Amino acid sequence: MSPSLSLPALALLLALVRYVAALTLRSTGGTLMLGDIPYYVPATPYTTVSVRALGRLQSVNGLSPVTVIGATASNATVGSFGSILAAFATDDVWNPYFLQGVLVQQIGTGNGPSYPLASTSLPGFNQTSVILSVASNASAPIPNGPYFLSANGALYQPLRLYSDFAGAFTQPLVPGPDGSYAASPAALPGIQSPAIGVPSRLYYTRTASKPLAGVRTGIKDIYDIAGLKTSDGNRAWYGFYPPASANSVPVQRLIDAGAILVGKMKTSQFANGERATADWVDYHSPFNPRGDGYQDPSSSSSGAGAGAATYPWLDLTLGSDTGGSIRGPSQVQGLFGNRPSHGLVDLTGVMPLAPELDTAGFLCRDPSIWKAAGTALYADLPFYSTYPQTIQTLNFPTNTSTQASGAALIFLAKLQGFLRAKTTTTLNLTASWTASKPAGAPATLAGLLNTTYPVLISKQQTRLVRDPFYAAYAAVHDGRRPFVDPAPLVRWAYGDSLPESALEDAQTNKTIFMTWFNSNILRNDSTTCSDSLVLYTGGSNTAYRNEYIQPPTVPFGFSTSRISVFAEVPDVVVPVGQASYQSTITNHTEVLPVTVDLMAAKGCDGMLFNLIQDLTAAGILEIPQTGQTIAGGEILLKRGMVGL
Ligand SMILES: *[C@@H]1O[C@H](CO)[C@@H](O)[C@H](O)[C@H]1NC(C)=O
Ligand SMILES: *[C@@H]1O[C@H](CO)[C@@H](O)[C@H](O)[C@H]1NC(C)=O
Ligand SMILES: *[C@@H]1O[C@H](CO)[C@@H](O)[C@H](O)[C@H]1NC(C)=O
Ligand SMILES: *[C@@H]1O[C@H](CO)[C@@H](O)[C@H](O)[C@H]1NC(C)=O
Ligand SMILES: *[C@@H]1O[C@H](CO)[C@@H](O)[C@H](O)[C@H]1NC(C)=O
Ligand SMILES: *[C@@H]1O[C@H](CO)[C@@H](O)[C@H](O)[C@H]1NC(C)=O
Ligand SMILES: *[C@@H]1O[C@H](CO)[C@@H](O)[C@H](O)[C@H]1NC(C)=O
Ligand SMILES: *[C@@H]1O[C@H](CO)[C@@H](O)[C@H](O)[C@H]1NC(C)=O
Ligand SMILES: *[C@@H]1O[C@H](CO)[C@@H](O)[C@H](O)[C@H]1NC(C)=O
Repeated sequence: MSPSLSLPALALLLALVRYVAALTLRSTGGTLMLGDIPYYVPATPYTTVSVRALGRLQSVNGLSPVTVIGATASNATVGSFGSILAAFATDDVWNPYFLQGVLVQQIGTGNGPSYPLASTSLPGFNQTSVILSVASNASAPIPNGPYFLSANGALYQPLRLYSDFAGAFTQPLVPGPDGSYAASPAALPGIQSPAIGVPSRLYYTRTASKPLAGVRTGIKDIYDIAGLKTSDGNRAWYGFYPPASANSVPVQRLIDAGAILVGKMKTSQFANGERATADWVDYHSPFNPRGDGYQDPSSSSSGAGAGAATYPWLDLTLGSDTGGSIRGPSQVQGLFGNRPSHGLVDLTGVMPLAPELDTAGFLCRDPSIWKAAGTALYADLPFYSTYPQTIQTLNFPTNTSTQASGAALIFLAKLQGFLRAKTTTTLNLTASWTASKPAGAPATLAGLLNTTYPVLISKQQTRLVRDPFYAAYAAVHDGRRPFVDPAPLVRWAYGDSLPESALEDAQTNKTIFMTWFNSNILRNDSTTCSDSLVLYTGGSNTAYRNEYIQPPTVPFGFSTSRISVFAEVPDVVVPVGQASYQSTITNHTEVLPVTVDLMAAKGCDGMLFNLIQDLTAAGILEIPQTGQTIAGGEILLKRGMVGL
């Protein structure tokens, strides 16, 4: 046998040597179970501490669960831990197993607590704890809460892993060491069940400069997050483009305000409207938890809506609304949701549909978090706290013949009482237009606006998104075209059928309507920001996701939901009640949310945030719960999942 290597073998060996030389071994963290709760422990520790006698703690992979409690010289006694631990018990990430080791951290100056290495029983917990003292660091105290401690003193902040059983996320995220985010390597057993990791709320305190500290936030997957790929709901797009090099402006504002990003969330493709059944070819539409669990979650901020209505551990979701993409999911899932005034935040790093209509807003359950998020995202928003005393209703119910109209009318009556409203009028937009339309404008609003929306979105998205994508993809893939869902294709084809002049024509028509609406229907007011509020209803109709529907069509027409789109005014959804229906899925009576939309003059988003907070404090609006109904209830789909 020849001792020399053949040429191909030598080449292989050299390639291997090069590979090994280039190899870098890198931890992406790990998962473990504490009790029956799954956790992810990141690769990078929060900090390193010096503690003695770690050998007394149980560990797995060298990690021991411990609880950090800050104490001063005067309250560093086991007896004073009681009230601190009672607050811990309300946190979903901490659990009593973290008490096997308690790290008492000195806060403030002076001599820190000096503990004997003692095992002791803590008040209120059936657990023997080892109390250990850690080195003080007054300038940067370690936040109270659950940690994993390694033998060499590395202290990690774990994430609790929850199942995304509603299929609301595209990509779970884990925080990196320097405020960055990475794709989560963690998974859970279960069908269609990515694992979403959330940090303990105990680490964070919301302050004026960090109004969203620790707020667990999901981001619609059209917003760039540095280091991560953006999908726009399209597999070819996701595969083709490299990770974003920078955060989109809205994401950066949320991070600066202290928000914790837990994942990117599903969008219908390129943020075009899609129905669950056949339109969602590339990705499966998320599941709306309300009613029988098989109602369409609406689009395009579908993941944002389904997630906020399903998961109690998710506080806030960032969506976008061009033609109803926040309001639709908020209505059908009974959430607070806002289409803001147009232009309140720069949308650099966000996929466009039509820049003159695109807006960034939120879907959530808690109006105080909603307002804090709005304050962070929309810089310099005025916050009026004196409210309009005139209400205009638009296509509003006039009798209580259905539960839905009953709920809407009860809300209207309570709102009138709260505002001490002097006037409530019925807004008939057709009649108002006829009476005060600008000279030379068409006789009807449909005559002006029937094609305005589809022209704007198709002309803009083909130019800004499709054409560069197709060209770059073809150049790399031998002239091939990427797969695109039917709904965007129908809209884009409409754009292709029109002359270039159509875009300018549509922009002109939009401006004509906006100018007319903002000087005739909703005007600025120096005391109440907006001279009145316009109310309309949404939601409460069934839209089964297992029904065969017609192929997608071009969204022609003018309707109530287009007013804020063209007039650039804020349009917010509030849940006001529920209406029952006989489900063809469960053969049982189920309920769906009833919502009302409130519009105000442009720039009056802050007044609406304040008003809704006050209406909630007055008990006129209620915080919706996650689950089958806005009052809670188990989601049938959830049974049998791990990590709930
Ligand atoms: C001790 O007092 C400090 C300062 O008021 C407080 O921050 C800390 O949480 C207290 N710790 C305990 C164990 O009560
Ligand atoms: C406390 O723990 C012991 C041993 O683990 C167990 O036998 C006992 O039932 C527990 N008591 C309570 C009140 O949980
Ligand atoms: C102490 O504070 C410094 C700076 O504030 C920080 O770099 C270091 O990690 C801290 N150490 C501990 C043990 O918290
Ligand atoms: C109640 O209002 C609806 C329209 O909202 C109308 O169709 C119906 O006829 C009204 N019923 C009564 C009893 O007035
Ligand atoms: C609105 O006004 C028009 C006349 O301009 C009228 O034909 C129509 O019936 C009115 N709509 C409602 C709902 O009252
Ligand atoms: C809107 O435009 C479409 C396409 O041109 C047309 O088919 C439809 O009839 C128009 N509708 C109205 C109300 O003008
Ligand atoms: C703009 O308005 C005119 C009527 O003034 C109408 O004929 C045209 O179709 C509209 N175009 C678009 C794109 O909105
Ligand atoms: C639906 O439930 C009713 C009783 O509430 C029952 O009579 C009927 O057979 C059920 N239908 C089906 C298809 O199971
Ligand atoms: C007032 O009206 C103008 C024009 O409609 C708008 O741009 C502005 O933001 C409005 N709101 C406030 C609070 O000034």
